[in-house]
Amino acid sequence: TTPLRLGIAGLGTVGAGTIRLLRANADLIRARAGRPLEVVAVSARDRTRDRGVDLSGLNWHDRAEDLVNDPSVDVVVELIGGAEGTARAVVESALKAGKPVVTANKALLALHGPALARLSTEHNAPLLFEAAVAGGIPAIKTVREGLAADRLTRVGGILNGTCNYILTVMRETGQAFASVLKDAQELGYAEADPSTDIDGLDAAHKLTILAGLAFGRPVDFSSVHVEGIRHVDAADQNFARALGYSIKLLGLARMTEQGLHARVTPCLVPQQSPLAQVNGVFNAVVAEGEFVGRIMIEGRGAGAGPTASAVTADLVDIARGQTMPVWGVQADEAADTVLRAQPIT
Ligand code: NDP
Ligand code: HSE
Repeated sequence: TTPLRLGIAGLGTVGAGTIRLLRANADLIRARAGRPLEVVAVSARDRTRDRGVDLSGLNWHDRAEDLVNDPSVDVVVELIGGAEGTARAVVESALKAGKPVVTANKALLALHGPALARLSTEHNAPLLFEAAVAGGIPAIKTVREGLAADRLTRVGGILNGTCNYILTVMRETGQAFASVLKDAQELGYAEADPSTDIDGLDAAHKLTILAGLAFGRPVDFSSVHVEGIRHVDAADQNFARALGYSIKLLGLARMTEQGLHARVTPCLVPQQSPLAQVNGVFNAVVAEGEFVGRIMIEGRGAGAGPTASAVTADLVDIARGQTMPVWGVQADEAADTVLRAQPIT
């Protein structure tokens, strides 16, 4: 059988983790995908860095954009990060070249989702991004496919592993914010610029994507209300606990008769509620539909293993020829009607 040949741009936490998973589970992935998934080319900035995976025999490209033109690459996997620059250029040029793209890049999807969806449709090039929301939780599949029959009224949850880790450790140990953030960075949970996590932007990127899937149209990221956890400290968590609450950073989008409401804010969550039990790097995705009622799924929201699992699931879908339009509806139709969240009054 013909292998599906992969070009991976970015060999950090997620890129190296994906190569590790593809190799460790090669046999079962081949059985499930119906063909082998083979990494043939890679790109990163520093050729000399030890990434804990054997890169010998792979085509190395100093310019990630060159992965797109490499004739041995069938699918481009973008794991660099950032809404602009190289990551955006690689994804756009791969779609224009008609090559399927898998990315974990939530900032890119949240800011440029409509244009990318249009390119994906125009060039018949699938764009998959399961890893962009809630790490290892199959959140995209759940909302776009599992709940495809229902009219959703609410979607969101605990969407940032770094923040949930910081809030949990501060609550359990009283450790200071800055030192817990440093641990989260060392564990590979945080974004390259961790203010993206702690100022709530990363959760807002994910909420923008989830709301787009839930409501079948892209959401304008700039209309989402965003507050982070920079000003929450261990003493705040102590007060919350004394009152029977836990402080959690929640992202929630609701569709009402007045329109879309979407916000990311630190919230006091009653200690007995299921969301208060979601701790450490774990995330939870909640959704509510008219027929299904309320659902919640929980799992690790960041880190090499969980994220590699989601990236690879997308690759298996491509190998099987099972891909979806970005918003789960005809993309060009959807892209013309961007949803804006109502201002907070
Ligand atoms: P890292 O910072 O660990 O890795 C980024 C990689 O991109 C590095 O290998 C870096 O090269 C490479 N890179 C940077 N600029 C370029 C460039 N111009 N050309 C080629 N390669 C480049 O990031 P992560 O692995 O943590 O994150 C990658 C993506 O996955 C991001 O979009 C992130 O938001 C997303 N994500 C991350 C999760 C996580 O838990 N970490 C979870 C879910 C999504 P070099 O190593 O040489 O510096
Ligand atoms: N920095 C992100 C987080 C990575 O902590 O949730 C996963 O998207």
